[in-house]
Amino acid sequence: MSLLPTALSVENLSVFVGSRQIVTDLSFEIAAGERVCLLGASGSGKSLTASAILGLLPANGHVEGSIKVQGYEVANVAAALRPKQAQAAMVFQDSHSALNPLVSIGAQLREPLRRRQGLSNEAAERKAVESLDAMGLPDPMNLLKRCPAEISGGQRQRVCIALALACKTSLLVADEPTTALDVITQAQVLRVLKQNTGTKDAPATLFITHDLGAAVQLCDRAIILERGTIIESGPLASILTSPRHPFTRSLIATAQAGVIETVPQTIPYQEAV
Ligand SMILES: Nc1ncnc2c1ncn2[C@@H]1O[C@H](COP(=O)(O)OP(=O)(O)O)[C@@H](O)[C@H]1O
Ligand SMILES: [Mg+2]
Repeated sequence: MSLLPTALSVENLSVFVGSRQIVTDLSFEIAAGERVCLLGASGSGKSLTASAILGLLPANGHVEGSIKVQGYEVANVAAALRPKQAQAAMVFQDSHSALNPLVSIGAQLREPLRRRQGLSNEAAERKAVESLDAMGLPDPMNLLKRCPAEISGGQRQRVCIALALACKTSLLVADEPTTALDVITQAQVLRVLKQNTGTKDAPATLFITHDLGAAVQLCDRAIILERGTIIESGPLASILTSPRHPFTRSLIATAQAGVIETVPQTIPYQEAV
């Protein structure tokens, strides 16, 4: 049995917006360093589940059941009111609106390095360069001086991942981080996510997607959601070889069709800023 604490434990979670129940009775856990995907069609309740876990539900939203991050009960506790150990980092689909358009990437990246890691200005500058380098981004010194609109969508999303990791949380929630990107850029983003997670020193990762092909590249375990309920969960390898639910079978068929149509034979990795 693992001695590492459970990074995320969700028990009998239901999510409501106004009087409408969107998500019903979800239960799952993510161990430290584990990468798990929440897969489901559009409208199945993935983003509201993410919002509930992050403490970012709309004002008329609430949850029933339990959400524990690092053992701290945080159901219905807004993100800003959670204890530091129970805060989660996040990466969203839209990297444009996740970053301040008027502030340089360097200034945005140095902020959590100083505030959450307690680094001096100089140490934060060095760490910012290292973290952009770890994202496979060329010429990090130059990139630090740029504003978000001056770089490509894939590069911006990798900056968002660097920012999320700089927060040094025990949990990272990435909601459709590759959905707005072309297939080559998706592969780069998945590769840096994979390289920078999956160890006990990195955050446990909840990767939210409608794309089984993307999930397979990053995660070992899947939770499959249909109309707000879990219909199947377990190791991705066994779900792929013996799906039990018709919706899972349709996800596999869609992913297989996508592979034939869209994945190039070679995937270039580095590009000029
Ligand atoms: N802020 C909101 N207010 C009311 N309904 C919402 C809100 N956000 C999402 N919903 C509804 O909840 C359902 C699930 O949405 P969402 O969690 O965004 O699904 P997914 O991320 O799986 O596409 C949808 O029917 C959506 O219309
Ligand atoms: Mg969504």
